[in-house]
Amino acid sequence: MKALVMAHHTPPLLLMLLLCTGSSSFQPALVIEMAKILSENYCFPENLVGMQEAIQQAINRGEIQQISDRKTLASVLTNRVQAALNDPRLIVSYEPNAVPVMPQKQPSLPTEQLIRLVRNSVKLDILDNNVGYLRMDRVIGEETAAKLGSLLRDNIWDKVANTSSLILDLRYSTAGEMSGVPFIISYFSDAETLIHVDSVYDRPSNITKELWTMPSIKMVRYGKKKDLIVLTSKRTMGAAEAVAYALKNLKRAITVGERSAGGSVKVEKIRIPQSDFYITVPVARSVSPITGHSWEVSGIPPTINVIAKEAVAKAKSLLAVRGAIPKVVQSIADIIERFYAFTDRVPALLEHLKYTDFSTVVSEEDLVVTLNQDLQTVSEDPRLMIKYMPDNTEDEDPAFDNVPEDFDSLKVLVDTTIKVEILSNNTGLSPH
Ligand SMILES: *[C@@H]1O[C@H](CO)[C@@H](O)[C@H](O)[C@H]1NC(C)=O
Ligand SMILES: *[C@@H]1O[C@H](CO)[C@@H](O)[C@H](O)[C@H]1NC(C)=O
Ligand SMILES: *[C@@H]1O[C@H](CO)[C@@H](O)[C@H](O)[C@H]1NC(C)=O
Repeated sequence: MKALVMAHHTPPLLLMLLLCTGSSSFQPALVIEMAKILSENYCFPENLVGMQEAIQQAINRGEIQQISDRKTLASVLTNRVQAALNDPRLIVSYEPNAVPVMPQKQPSLPTEQLIRLVRNSVKLDILDNNVGYLRMDRVIGEETAAKLGSLLRDNIWDKVANTSSLILDLRYSTAGEMSGVPFIISYFSDAETLIHVDSVYDRPSNITKELWTMPSIKMVRYGKKKDLIVLTSKRTMGAAEAVAYALKNLKRAITVGERSAGGSVKVEKIRIPQSDFYITVPVARSVSPITGHSWEVSGIPPTINVIAKEAVAKAKSLLAVRGAIPKVVQSIADIIERFYAFTDRVPALLEHLKYTDFSTVVSEEDLVVTLNQDLQTVSEDPRLMIKYMPDNTEDEDPAFDNVPEDFDSLKVLVDTTIKVEILSNNTGLSPH
């Protein structure tokens, strides 16, 4: 009991406890080695206090020593570690027949193979209305990108830059390198404002690397103004998630599709010394400076949820809606200028419209809500109102039944996708 109490305080005492209570069995030694691996490799070192308590409790209750079946032991340890650290990626396995694989750095491929790899993983189409469609099945790392610089620029990035809007398809992107993330975000940003995109903490080296957009890249940027839709599926994983997460949270892209897989920056399977047990450990983690959170494990919920198969069609219709925004806004500005009764408020309204943020507008209804909020705040006039009327629907909105009779309504057909209706006081419309 004394040993138990003391063991609560420091790891060396935990070690003594384990050795005392189970010196004849292999389990305590295994657990100690496992704890050591975690303390040197697990990317949330601040959480490890809980792990030690969980191990201790299991030992104290004699559970660990009683389990002689190694596979059962592996699954018990997995449960304990997962519960203590609340991380489903931690897995203890017993693999007596595993062929040991030396963790090694990927050898750099010869240029020809790199070219083939890129050809097979990046595909560009130009769709109707000069909409670009870029399917990227892997995020190309910095090193490869440097080697293939002009090839990628001429065949991909310069062609993309000429499109009016882009669908970036990451639905099949299951591989790639984090080092490629800053380039992609840079391409879709301006050079003037550098953005801190991600912070990646690597536990074994105890180094946090900040990923920032780059002041200069070797190609014409897409910039931050043109519409960008990112497609994700439940298979989208790893570096592609880092790309989608950053673009979404920077409000640079609207994401369409399914919640992404929730992968990891880096997971390693490490052999527990002197045993046939392994422990799978996430050794690095990503934290977004924008959200303070990560795409890891939980994945990224899309802005617009549709099954992956329907994502392209949805993206196209979204781009059509978004493509109409400038024209709609211009028409509204014209109408306000010509008809709005409170002429003193007109300049402020027009000025405000110029700077309204439409980056997250995904539907006609959205656009109308955004505009109404803006216009009503600036004008302090709840009757200044825009209404969306889909084709073939009569005025069924009960809110409009309450509009007093003496307010005329002005219906304006802006284009085939959006109709706006501006309600205005009679005085504003009287045709003198
Ligand atoms: C992009 O457009 C410009 C101007 O229209 C043109 O000069 C250039 O060749 C185009 N680039 C590509 C890669 O299509
Ligand atoms: C990791 O580095 C920080 C300083 O950047 C230091 O305070 C900390 O003790 C280091 N942790 C380990 C386990 O080496
Ligand atoms: C609306 O018009 C009525 C008369 O038609 C007028 O009395 C009223 O002041 C106007 N309201 C505004 C806000 O201009």
